[in-house]
Amino acid sequence: ELMHEIENFEKIFTVPSESLQAVTKHFITELEKGLSKKGGNIPMIPGWVMDFPTGKESGDFLAIDLGGTNLRVVLVKLGGDRTFDTTQSKYKLPDAMRTTQNPDELWEFIADSLKTFINEQFPQGISEPIPLGFTFSFPASQNKINEGVLQRWTKGFDIPNIENHDVVPMLQKQITKRDIPIEVVALINDTTGTLVASYYTDPETKMGVIFGTGVNGAYYDVCSEIEKLQGKLSDDIPSSAPMAINCEYGSFDNEHVVLPRTKYDVTIDEESPRPGQQTFEKMSSGYYLGEILRLALIDMYKQGFIFKNQDLSKFDKPFVMDTSYPAKIEEDPFENLEDTDDLFQNEFGINTTVQERKLIRRLCELIGTRAARLSVCGIAAICQKRGYKTGHIAADGSVYNRYPGFKEKAANALRDIYGWTQASLDDYPIKIVPAEDGSGAGAAVIAALAGKRIAEGK
Ligand code: BG6
Ligand code: GLC
Repeated sequence: ELMHEIENFEKIFTVPSESLQAVTKHFITELEKGLSKKGGNIPMIPGWVMDFPTGKESGDFLAIDLGGTNLRVVLVKLGGDRTFDTTQSKYKLPDAMRTTQNPDELWEFIADSLKTFINEQFPQGISEPIPLGFTFSFPASQNKINEGVLQRWTKGFDIPNIENHDVVPMLQKQITKRDIPIEVVALINDTTGTLVASYYTDPETKMGVIFGTGVNGAYYDVCSEIEKLQGKLSDDIPSSAPMAINCEYGSFDNEHVVLPRTKYDVTIDEESPRPGQQTFEKMSSGYYLGEILRLALIDMYKQGFIFKNQDLSKFDKPFVMDTSYPAKIEEDPFENLEDTDDLFQNEFGINTTVQERKLIRRLCELIGTRAARLSVCGIAAICQKRGYKTGHIAADGSVYNRYPGFKEKAANALRDIYGWTQASLDDYPIKIVPAEDGSGAGAAVIAALAGKRIAEGK
């Protein structure tokens, strides 16, 4: 009976190479649409980083990073020789803060965390103002580098009165209120930060990508190729100038044309605070993988296949399993999956049979593999669009760094899209490599580049 269910799951969660190729093809069209005047589902947001870092940028900078697993505050010293040092603190954003009804609470919490950090790092106080780069990992429209108008919340955030507003003054106000001599000089996306930080140390970098709570990528395009910039650039900017683009491709295929959605993906979308948004992200990023697993298990239970006659009250709550659960289950070293047994018993009061645990593990593999395979389609699409045949894709995020087998599965999915024949993933022409610390160093380099432009009167 359970075998039959496993086969069914294999059918709905497996994405063969031909499907990846079809997804990539459609992806390229959608990226292009996003750059057009009319626009499309993928926002393709110009980030106003209009220089490649030289590696010589130097000085001390601060960075705040909001939107991933932790709120972080980072002090960065750029060495000016393609190296940097960082000192950082993490602050756990209280879960309820994602959906607080009072937006001030968010900005107060961030400014308080910054103040704590400053007091620790500069016990004598700050003599000269320090420029700060704000990594705000959400779709935020920018007409200049120190601005970010939130288009819409993603990743389960839902706080009123911030969408359609510039978040920089909101943060600045709380910083100034605390008498901290710090100016927010740049707003960046985590992918743009990852791109620029990695380029600073490695000029082979072609993209910065995140496989984390969300999924997204950034790359450098050329102003003349970005139709929607027409009329928005000052005359002294050559049309050949580079422009970093935060794709926000988590919103790919909101029209549901190519992605192989299951009924669980449909439920996740319908029950999210923003139905109809972030279709690609909801199938492939860390915020959702545990929930996809949970929904599939609840479905099995309701059909009478598993957890028979057990009390599921602790399990029947959206998002009680974050992605660390499928990660732990896949890592369970025991033949009979004793770690998984403990996990279900201790966390949810559910007893499992060996057969059930094998089904659960197989489901985790399928969900994790689908995520890895789908999420590289964004990389293939950008590389094909830009004509990159070789290069490094700098990657960061908890799924990339911590989900078992993810790195290899992602690399091999890219191989399947291109049909590479090299035996080892170290030899693939386009290589996904671990990124430099994007939110820290990237924000610092971008702040430095912005400062240089201002100094040059651009
Ligand atoms: C961190 C970056 O390492 O990864 C952040 O510094 C980024 O800027 C984060 O947002 C993404 O990963 P996750 O898993 O924390 O969402
Ligand atoms: C979500 C956000 C995007 C971010 C990504 C990774 O997709 O909208 O801005 O880059 O998550 O953190």
